[in-house]
Amino acid sequence: MNIAVIGTGYVGLPAGAGFASHGHNVTCVDIDEEKVEKINSGECPIYEEGLPELLQEVVSKGKLEATTDTITAVKNADIVLLAVGTPMDKEGNINLDYIEKASKDIAEGMKEREEHQTIVIKSTVVPTTTEEKIIPILEQSGKKPGKDFGVCMNPEFLREGTALKDFLEPDRIVIGELDEKSGDNLEKIYSEFDAPIMRTGLKEAELIKYASNSLLATKISFINEIGNLCKELGIDVYDVADGVGMDHRVKRDFLDSGAGFGGSCFPKDVRALIKFMEDKGEEPRILQDTINVNVDQKTKLVEQLQNHYSDLSGKKIAVLGLAFKPGTDDIRQSPAIDIIAELKELGAEFKAYDPKAIENMKQKHPEIEYTSSYQEALKEADAGLILTDWEEFNEISREELKKMNKALILEGRRMSYELDGENRQGVTWP
Ligand code: UGA
Repeated sequence: MNIAVIGTGYVGLPAGAGFASHGHNVTCVDIDEEKVEKINSGECPIYEEGLPELLQEVVSKGKLEATTDTITAVKNADIVLLAVGTPMDKEGNINLDYIEKASKDIAEGMKEREEHQTIVIKSTVVPTTTEEKIIPILEQSGKKPGKDFGVCMNPEFLREGTALKDFLEPDRIVIGELDEKSGDNLEKIYSEFDAPIMRTGLKEAELIKYASNSLLATKISFINEIGNLCKELGIDVYDVADGVGMDHRVKRDFLDSGAGFGGSCFPKDVRALIKFMEDKGEEPRILQDTINVNVDQKTKLVEQLQNHYSDLSGKKIAVLGLAFKPGTDDIRQSPAIDIIAELKELGAEFKAYDPKAIENMKQKHPEIEYTSSYQEALKEADAGLILTDWEEFNEISREELKKMNKALILEGRRMSYELDGENRQGVTWP
């Protein structure tokens, strides 16, 4: 099938490359010319495991190409996947500017096509957006939804860092459909996937995405709240999580306690669902507390640092890990941002290190000293804070601790290096 993918971010590009690897002809569309050129030369514009290799393969086989020309790409496509970003505005609403612009361009392309085609919303949008905001724009093509063209809402559950694997091996594929023909058309491009397919309505699919992310975020805040109690009791929250997670009704996944959740999805999606519920006259109590616990959790380590130094001014702190999780250079909503801000306020000095995310953090904090290794950051530091569980931090050794002013490491993420005892403490474990 001919597929057009509008937006080449963390959702669009893995989806485009994935469908191309299943034999479909994919055209990726982006407004960024530099990105388009990169893709066409087989270069991957984002950091995602396995994606550079697959992209190069499908581009060289002629199964995937990129363009800035939405109209032509849409005209030629049996299926159009809309995968542009939905950032958050100040009130917590999703900003639909990109969606609206892309939908207008899609409508223009639809005018040029005679055959039936199916427009698929992959972007994360709150319930009713597809029906009330997107379909009316698509109708500007002069065509009738459910008759001249199909509409589906097909949320994506992939994680940054493992986006390609998650795309190719999903737990489930959710197809929200305007009518049966729309869903049947979309289902065809998933024929090679080994995953259960759930067919449902548009609003249900929209909410499945938000409810999934909100439940996962709530699991994390829940275990962090239990973890704060564990810290008081001097016990290990990971033992508690293991015991709880052995119940198949709960599952152990997403019960790793630490410095709170970050990234471009959980904080934004939970807030958007809260705002949406409030607009509908509902009171989102659990979700509000999921956010409140998370906000406090992010700077718990600073409080714990103050147990060691009542005055942090002039203290040299090594910040190890800036990305919101390992395997990515993304710092959006990363606990490191809040911790750096708080340490600055308290007059601490710091050196920061991350294997991938320094360039991104430099744009936010050009004034900070960055080092090219974690060893360098730890040298002569009064304490080290581990904020991202990069594998390399598991190599921290007694030798490196000896070079610190005070051998003290506080972990915001659970690490598995060998050192034990006084030198090492966790945010929610001893
Ligand atoms: C998340 C979801 O996991 C995906 O299913 C979803 O598709 C995606 O959002 C999205 O909506 O696009 P992502 O934000 O890439 O994916 O990252 P996660 O691996 O879920 O981690 C999010 C944050 O939670 C990280 O800061 C991580 O360190 C933290 N986390 C995760 C914990 O603190 N504890 C855990 O047990 C798991």
